[in-house]
Amino acid sequence: MEIDLRSKRLIIKRMGQDDAPALFAYRSDPAVTRFQEWEPAGLDEVVEFITANQASVFDEPNSWFQVGIYSADNTPRLIGDIGIHFLEEASQTVELGITIAPSYQRFGYGSEALSTLIDHLFGALQKHRIIASIDPTNAASIALVKKVGMCQEAHFRQSLLYKGEWVDDLIFAILRSEWKGQFPLRRENQPRHDA
Ligand SMILES: CC(C)(COP(=O)(O)OP(=O)(O)OC[C@H]1O[C@@H](n2cnc3c(N)ncnc32)[C@H](O)[C@@H]1OP(=O)(O)O)[C@@H](O)C(=O)NCCC(=O)NCCS
Repeated sequence: MEIDLRSKRLIIKRMGQDDAPALFAYRSDPAVTRFQEWEPAGLDEVVEFITANQASVFDEPNSWFQVGIYSADNTPRLIGDIGIHFLEEASQTVELGITIAPSYQRFGYGSEALSTLIDHLFGALQKHRIIASIDPTNAASIALVKKVGMCQEAHFRQSLLYKGEWVDDLIFAILRSEWKGQFPLRRENQPRHDA
């Protein structure tokens, strides 16, 4: 199964090799890498990453799949990405990790993309539970997942060795029975990046 989702301002689909420069530009920005495991050292590493992702299968248990977030205009631009972790089949659980390029942050794109994807995972794919693992100091991510309706289920103390330091980990989650739909898409007058 392929993924190709549309919302009012965005397209969510598999990335292609043409996306490598844009992906490298924001994924190597220190403001973005602060809370990310992956820090690509060069464009080659990003090309390799996209090549590997092109071969991966969407909705394969125990695997990660990366989708691009594009502006839905005449010349779609890659403005971010979402890592989708399909956990073991019996759990019907998916973990999400989202990144928006710094110049596109705080325009509601993160919540629009996340809610569009969650809608697909709970609707078409009938997943049971969606989770996110977040550093307690990552205020933007915490605000984002709360905005789409996730609630905090756990605070693990120093449970992850991250960049040589033991750090805390918050787990946020939402169940299919709690999902109320793509609420940001019902909002009118969301600002555009170029507005
Ligand atoms: C987290 C991230 C994806 C949010 O994307 P975004 O497009 O800016 O999110 P939105 O504009 O939809 O904002 C969602 C909510 O978060 C809030 N928010 C966004 N950035 C914030 C910040 N830096 N501090 C506090 N709140 C913030 C917004 O105000 C909004 O809440 P509101 O509508 O109630 O005001 C983005 O900041 C990012 O990519 N960060 C770097 C990568 C990262 O850390 N990813 C998480 C790894 S799990």
